[in-house]
Amino acid sequence: MIVVSSIKTLRHKLATARAIGTVGFVPTMGALHDGHLSLMKRAKKECDFLIVSLFVNPLQFGPKEDFKAYPRTASQDRKKARSAEVDLLWLPTEKMLFSPDFQTSIEVGSITHLWEGASRPNHFKGVTTIVGKLLQIVRPDFFYLGQKDYQQCCVIRQMLRDLHFETRLHICPTLREQDGLAMSSRNTRLSAQKREIAPVFYHALQTAKKSVQSGEKKTKNILQAAKSILDATKDIQLDYLALCDTITLLPIDRIKNRAVLLVSGNLGEVRLIDNILLKVPSAPNKS
Ligand code: PAF
Repeated sequence: MIVVSSIKTLRHKLATARAIGTVGFVPTMGALHDGHLSLMKRAKKECDFLIVSLFVNPLQFGPKEDFKAYPRTASQDRKKARSAEVDLLWLPTEKMLFSPDFQTSIEVGSITHLWEGASRPNHFKGVTTIVGKLLQIVRPDFFYLGQKDYQQCCVIRQMLRDLHFETRLHICPTLREQDGLAMSSRNTRLSAQKREIAPVFYHALQTAKKSVQSGEKKTKNILQAAKSILDATKDIQLDYLALCDTITLLPIDRIKNRAVLLVSGNLGEVRLIDNILLKVPSAPNKS
């Protein structure tokens, strides 16, 4: 595995890789877990050369958020990247990515004002600015994100379309712990007591799924099913629980065919998000 920091060296190595075949890219903020590794595994299968970046992006954290406390596990990350057969691990520094007179941002419109965006002003502007920069430097054929950050995927997909990026985005399934908790770098910040409670988000999503599978179509009732699970746990400060269109993320009154259920809340200091895609069961075949 090649490990580089400088953009110039990276470009040089990538030029060689590109001449041989396709380049796949997994951008991360480090603290790698099996969810990241699953993205790498898929990219490795589909691309000739796999590059992974590791950069905790200050732009996407609000002033009161956990930028300083965000887990940083560089030496374990290197080992994990090596075991995932990453071809190139890119470790840019803040100085390399942001010159002192840096003054350009990428801001996607209305979809960024909903849900996470409503609670975390400028979060998505920080995400799209860094992802736009990373893509502009790496110019991968394919890049890979996890469905766990569903809104982030939608926002980035919108940016790719609007700005005519040539790269192709693959959204990969959320990986979960045995008890259902969606894998996230932030899980390591949960106290033992909060970690025990955390799978309640997953249970709430599963309850909603069961209600849809048993024929419920009204948002009000689907949300109520999920909320009854969350309400039974005192320690959660629920931010939103919303049934939305899978592309626009606008709330819907009824599920017609497909929808996404988004949830976010705080467990102590730690913000957790999760989601599930819901599908109305197909009508039994009459023939
Ligand atoms: O999902 C993440 O880890 C980050 O938001 C990303 C896409 C690496 C941008 O910093």
